[in-house]
Amino acid sequence: MLLKVNSMQPEQDIIRQAAEAIRRGRLVAFPTETVYGLGADALNPEAVDRIFAAKERPSCDPIIVHIARVEDLCIVARDLPPQTYVLSRHFWPGPLTLILPRAEMLSARVTAGLDTVAVRMPDHPVALALIRAAETPIAAPSANLFGHVSPTTARHVIDDLGERVDLILDGGPTRIGVESTVLDLSGEEPVILRPGGTNREALSPIMGEITLNVSARQRGGEKLGFASPGLMERHYSPRAELTLFRGAEWKMLTAMRARIHECLATGKEVGLLVASEDRVVFDGYPVIIEDLGPRDNLDPIAARLFAAMRALDEQGVKVILVRGFGTAGLGLAIEDRLTRAAGGRVVEIH
Ligand code: TXA
Ligand code: MG
Repeated sequence: MLLKVNSMQPEQDIIRQAAEAIRRGRLVAFPTETVYGLGADALNPEAVDRIFAAKERPSCDPIIVHIARVEDLCIVARDLPPQTYVLSRHFWPGPLTLILPRAEMLSARVTAGLDTVAVRMPDHPVALALIRAAETPIAAPSANLFGHVSPTTARHVIDDLGERVDLILDGGPTRIGVESTVLDLSGEEPVILRPGGTNREALSPIMGEITLNVSARQRGGEKLGFASPGLMERHYSPRAELTLFRGAEWKMLTAMRARIHECLATGKEVGLLVASEDRVVFDGYPVIIEDLGPRDNLDPIAARLFAAMRALDEQGVKVILVRGFGTAGLGLAIEDRLTRAAGGRVVEIH
């Protein structure tokens, strides 16, 4: 079932109904500021199992737990490192997920057997109201099929999961559009396992320089074979074959033009993900263009990225060519998702 909800001032009766569903062990998809989450009672192992089944997600991939009050950290985590308080004061509610030692009472099903847990407080009135009303932490991965692009609208959730979700709260498109930054505080040194909505530059005045480690095996990852399973190659993927072009502006766009010619010569339909300024470069080309917005404003680019990938898939293109947007600020998260969507097909031009 789908219910429209006011994203600024969620209707109480709708929140009550959704919270009741969570308490009964059901699955509720809800908007956060990053992407839509597929939520269940984090303290109910059977409900958590339903998340894995609905997403077709391997049970070795741990799920983020969402809370609405810092005090509730102690329900899901223990032995909190001192930085936890500083970071939560600065960045919560917001797109920062902290990896902390797991509390005993939280089922290891949520954390895929790890003794750490991922926790965040989302910055969205619907998400916060739902967690409060349910009176329990809510486990929620992104509400897409495993390996697919994360959903930024309720429509995307329906397209991927449909009847597998008991209730979908439609609060409109999400604001940030890429997932939260995952910061591991469980080891000696803090490590970013996934760049996301909270920029590395914003973290460094508090934490100093933070290592980015999106691929190395370490700690909990030793058991899993990777640091953070969402960081496996070919994740966040559209169905079409995507290639990322990186490098100096003009050379990058020229290389994209050359690739278009090759694709068209072999009869492949091409979709482009480009900035508004780039459109003129592809004038007259028989390609489908998704305009992500002006090159220098990364916020709307991130917000549109996943919807644009889905839109190109829907129009049936076989190949998607994307330009890079650098690695400053949100660019790092954008590049991370594009590199993964490309599954290694990255053209670097100097
Ligand atoms: O913005 C977001 O983070 C969204 C919204 C719904 O909150 N959620 C989200 O969840 O993206 P998910 O499950 O799609 O991605 C969570 C990432 C995965 O890469 C997962 O492997 C990692 O966090 N993760 C979760 N628990 C972990 C742990 N204990 N240690 C290391 N990585 C962990
Ligand atoms: Mg996900």
